Amino acid sequence: MPDAISGRRDEVDAAGGAAAGAPGGVAAGAPGGAVTGAPGAPGGAVTGAPGAPGGAAAGAQIVETATVYANQGLAPGIYSLTLDAPRIAPLARPGQFVHLGLGLATAGQDSPHPLRRPFSVYQVGADRRGDFQRLTLLYQTIGSGTLAISRLQPGDAVSLLGPLGRGWQPPVATRRALLVGGGVGFAPLALLAGALMARSVEVHALVGARNLATLNALLGGGLACLPYPDRTQDALLDARHFIHLATDDGSAGYHGLNVGLLSDLLAQYDFDYIAACGPEPMQRAVALAARQHSIYCEVSLERHMACGIGACLSCIVQTGSGTQRACLDGPVFDAQEVVW
Ligand SMILES: Cc1cc2nc3c(=O)[nH]c(=O)nc-3n(C[C@H](O)[C@H](O)[C@H](O)COP(=O)(O)OP(=O)(O)OC[C@H]3O[C@@H](n4cnc5c(N)ncnc54)[C@H](O)[C@@H]3O)c2cc1C
Ligand code: FES
Repeated sequence: MPDAISGRRDEVDAAGGAAAGAPGGVAAGAPGGAVTGAPGAPGGAVTGAPGAPGGAAAGAQIVETATVYANQGLAPGIYSLTLDAPRIAPLARPGQFVHLGLGLATAGQDSPHPLRRPFSVYQVGADRRGDFQRLTLLYQTIGSGTLAISRLQPGDAVSLLGPLGRGWQPPVATRRALLVGGGVGFAPLALLAGALMARSVEVHALVGARNLATLNALLGGGLACLPYPDRTQDALLDARHFIHLATDDGSAGYHGLNVGLLSDLLAQYDFDYIAACGPEPMQRAVALAARQHSIYCEVSLERHMACGIGACLSCIVQTGSGTQRACLDGPVFDAQEVVW
């Protein structure tokens, strides 16, 4: 029987309000562009305005032809794609995503991939002038679309729709946060880690991966914002931040699924916020543990997404407040609201 975990949403804050210079910092006053209102969303308000909740009630999305800056293989089947996207990158908030279209950049061009593919914004980077122009996606090859993306070369054009969705909204009073990510599921948590650290929150990352190679791929990118001197230890610490590792094959850190470390961590540390993304059974386990410890928890849910802007209802999520759309009402949800 599905179980709606009841709970309340505390006062929340935009994780995206990162301080200048912090990883994931977002430049204010980005140039506006062609703006289309999502059906059902309040018009006029530009997503990502400084201080606005992390992408809540997106009122505007931009369609931009982005240019591939780099497309790098990190581990078997795992890549990072960095795009020059000067209109979308400055607006992206932690937990938001972009909808990437292949072959859509040229008008009238036929594409074997007429549907866009959704990807979380993993990193936002500045160019040499210091403008936030670039965004990076961390992706895994699954089928024909991601395979085609893995073949993109620097200079190639793709169509981006974004930034989309409601991002992370940790309570303003968060002091110690646990971010739980499985595999490329860690992608939307990397910007959040940077934004929380910029707010002087003690950040613990619990990262699970198939093996050491995948773990290194994940940790070399967006998690580089966390101190990580030795990639073979299972828990690393500087003054304020920790990484806890788990691998399926035991090649680094805890031998087993990352949720196997969860109860120990919850017993050891007094967390007041948990964010999770990865396989849904993992997220459900995290949500249940958070409820047992009365900790506010958010999850980022994946659904098949056709339109990405709330129009097609292909991305339905059942919640305690009724049926919601992952692309517009999520992908980040209060874990206690989700009917698992
Ligand atoms: C909000 C959101 C953020 C995401 N962020 C990331 C990320 O950061 N990194 C990453 O590797 N993957 C991410 N995904 C999953 C990614 O979108 C799919 O792996 C990708 O669309 C698969 O496309 P494909 O053509 O290779 O696979 P195919 O299986 O050939 O795809 C066929 C169709 O199913 C859809 N589809 C298949 N799997 C998924 C899925 N898991 N979620 C949504 N649609 C799917 C595709 O978009 C396509 O329309 C995210 C999904 C969502 C909803
Ligand atoms: S993808 Fe169309 S409504 Fe969500």
